[in-house]
Amino acid sequence: MKRLLLLALCSLSLSRSESKFVPYDYSATIECLAKPFKPQYNGGIIVNPDLRNGPQAWSQFGNAKVEFREIGGDKFVVARERKQPFDSVSQKVYLEKGLLYTFSAWLQVNKGNAPVKAVFKKNGEYKHAGSVIAESKCWSMLKGGLTVDESGPAELYFESDDTTVEIWVDSVSLQPFTEKEWNTHHELSIQKERKRTVRIRAVNSKGEPIPKATITVEQRKLGFPFGCEVEKNILESQAYQNWFTQRFTVTTFANEMKWYSTEVVRGKENYSIADAMLSFFKKHGVAVRGHNVVWNDDKYQLQWLNSLSGREFYNAVKQRIFSVVSRYKGQLAGWDVVNENLHFSYFEKKMGPKASYNIYKMAQAFDPTTTKFLNEYNTLEEPRDSDSCPARYLKKLRELKSIRVRGNISLGIGLESHFKTPNLPYMRSALDTLGATGLPIWLTEVDVEAPPNVQAQVFRAGSKGRPRTSSSERNGDVEWLFSNRLLPNVPHRWKL
Ligand SMILES: *[C@@H]1O[C@H](CO)[C@@H](O)[C@H](O)[C@H]1NC(C)=O
Ligand SMILES: *[C@@H]1O[C@H](CO)[C@@H](O)[C@H](O)[C@H]1NC(C)=O
Repeated sequence: MKRLLLLALCSLSLSRSESKFVPYDYSATIECLAKPFKPQYNGGIIVNPDLRNGPQAWSQFGNAKVEFREIGGDKFVVARERKQPFDSVSQKVYLEKGLLYTFSAWLQVNKGNAPVKAVFKKNGEYKHAGSVIAESKCWSMLKGGLTVDESGPAELYFESDDTTVEIWVDSVSLQPFTEKEWNTHHELSIQKERKRTVRIRAVNSKGEPIPKATITVEQRKLGFPFGCEVEKNILESQAYQNWFTQRFTVTTFANEMKWYSTEVVRGKENYSIADAMLSFFKKHGVAVRGHNVVWNDDKYQLQWLNSLSGREFYNAVKQRIFSVVSRYKGQLAGWDVVNENLHFSYFEKKMGPKASYNIYKMAQAFDPTTTKFLNEYNTLEEPRDSDSCPARYLKKLRELKSIRVRGNISLGIGLESHFKTPNLPYMRSALDTLGATGLPIWLTEVDVEAPPNVQAQVFRAGSKGRPRTSSSERNGDVEWLFSNRLLPNVPHRWKL
């Protein structure tokens, strides 16, 4: 009797842990669709996630009027007559410390388009889980995520600064994962994306198989781009050169290609240092990212350039692009063309609203084959930064995508990745969203502001091994690289 009971308990706990494992859903949709997809994970811990049961579990938030509607068999909820950004619709959930929550929802507004955020109000704090630019007449997918510092009840709601729009919500999902499950997802994708079965056949000079041959495999070089930024001092230290070239397959020069380094005096260009560094790395088979053609931050402009305007300014910019891009044509693993384009607008202020578009276009004309990157911070790091969130990033890519000069422009996604404590589920969702473009994604300036032992933990949790280099004024950033083919289930397409 006793034994039977034990057995029963055993099988119960077994089947429970078996049924619990939920694979991560890497899919993200960047097209605006006539009908939303079903909620990911069947809604996870969200009750009535597809609004099939009308008002069940959903309620008014703030002072919005909440209405449950149906169009063509599809049920959804509408928050209207909004007066405050947060006036919307909400659901109560319980969030646990230590779990990683992946969030998604499909949103629509009743006119034009408007950025809409998903927020969790918890203990008087507002946790941003992601955002999307919602449109009218079709559904946009918001994908995000969050973690919490303390367990407790929370309220999910939606927010838009544009109070004149109705917010429509459907197919909501909040799926928790334990850290163990999260790590299992990494392991599974490493197995799938990084490993292959190899058959080795050892033969003698006559081509006959050698029985029981001993085979040794030694890794001589990394199989994926992994790098670090360098500065010109590498030219002077043999020890540093050896250390560097044994480890890294990619690099970026911190400042040596930047305009303020190559043309200190107007009209006196000097590329001797950048040339020497490039030639050194070429000799050692280390690929070099070009950083950068121009930088859109007012703070980092040459004095003499600041004093120019109109046609003179335009000519100076054109000369810069021609000079640096044609000089290194076909020799770089990508160019950061207008650095930090989403946050800053120095060139727009000087040359008008199409400045960045025209700079990318000129770069394309002078070197049509090298991938042209955007390079931004906070896209993975900070869900609250609406300047560079994935939705804004996509909007800029869509603008630049129409450039056709000597063929279509090939664009790349550069994510600086300056972390404090990374919000892993948000970071993953942002990568899923950007990955849906099919464009290459590089983490270009990865660093973690934390004590070294914490840094190591964070790097491990966040990467499972695909680090790489940098730029900017910082020193010692480690850059990671994600290439699109390393992201599972990402279709190679670009439908916008
Ligand atoms: C260019 O820069 C290098 C390195 O700073 C310097 O040695 C050289 O004299 C410069 N060339 C000219 C023509 O100014
Ligand atoms: C360029 O892009 C257009 C529009 O997406 C496409 O129809 C065309 O085939 C592309 N051309 C090349 C050479 O890839």
